[in-house]
Amino acid sequence: MVRIIDICSGKGGVGKTVVASNLGVALQKFYKKTAVIDFNFTTSHLSLYFGIYSHPITLNHVLRNEARLEEAIYSHHSGLKIVPGSLKLRDIIDIDVSNLRNLLKTTFSNFDIVLLDSAPGLGKEALMALQASDEVLYVANPNIPSLVDIVKCNQVINRLENKPIPIGLIVNRVKNKVYEIKNDEIIRFTELPIIGVIPEDENILSSFNKRTLVTLSKKRSKSKKEFFKIAAKLTGVKYEYSIFEKIKRIFKKESL
Ligand SMILES: Nc1ncnc2c1ncn2[C@@H]1O[C@H](COP(=O)(O)OP(=O)(O)OP(=O)(O)O)[C@@H](O)[C@H]1O
Ligand SMILES: [Mg+2]
Repeated sequence: MVRIIDICSGKGGVGKTVVASNLGVALQKFYKKTAVIDFNFTTSHLSLYFGIYSHPITLNHVLRNEARLEEAIYSHHSGLKIVPGSLKLRDIIDIDVSNLRNLLKTTFSNFDIVLLDSAPGLGKEALMALQASDEVLYVANPNIPSLVDIVKCNQVINRLENKPIPIGLIVNRVKNKVYEIKNDEIIRFTELPIIGVIPEDENILSSFNKRTLVTLSKKRSKSKKEFFKIAAKLTGVKYEYSIFEKIKRIFKKESL
């Protein structure tokens, strides 16, 4: 059965779209049939991360009953399916978000995973994403404001009719500076497990300029490795990033 996972943060700009797009690619590379949906109806950016600048049918059209969801699904060369949001301001008028969960479950019934790239905050859009999901994966930066908003989101979940299960937290943009909140404090404060730690990585920004993603680049990078590790954790796939890690693992086994 398809797993609908909301990529959620509370606070804006922490890296939800970067996580949703790269995690989507990593999951698809593990042969998990994956789609990423832009659930940020008002400030949609997902398609830009895939270098797609023009898309006649978007989720906004579907929500205005002007198109079927199937018509808004775009195939990326990575194999990943993408449902973009509209880049036009006028397309946010008259959208109807009722019954969205059923629509997603039916349309993506033969998929393994659907990731929802949520809007920031706890407004209508963010709540709709939570209500449409089976699970929630939080994204935060290692600072207090971003972590406080995770706690708020987790409290909101308990008040929803459909309560998605919190999988845990991805800590993004980690620079290993002394002023950053450390992992053990993050776990204590949020009461959530850390599923992955993604470093601050210029490759993420330079890939965007090249209209691609770190997970699609041939170049090795720390963030790329982390996205694959997270995808492996979510799906139970065995993953070794490099030949050295393979050797290390064999060596460790032998020395046990
Ligand atoms: N690990 C990282 N290293 C470097 N830059 C990053 C990293 N993660 C995100 N960024 C950059 O931070 C900015 C915000 O990221 P992103 O758009 O994914 O945030 P968001 O949470 O989706 O924002 P919003 O709440 O507005 O939807 C982007 O310019 C992105 O390239
Ligand atoms: Mg975003």
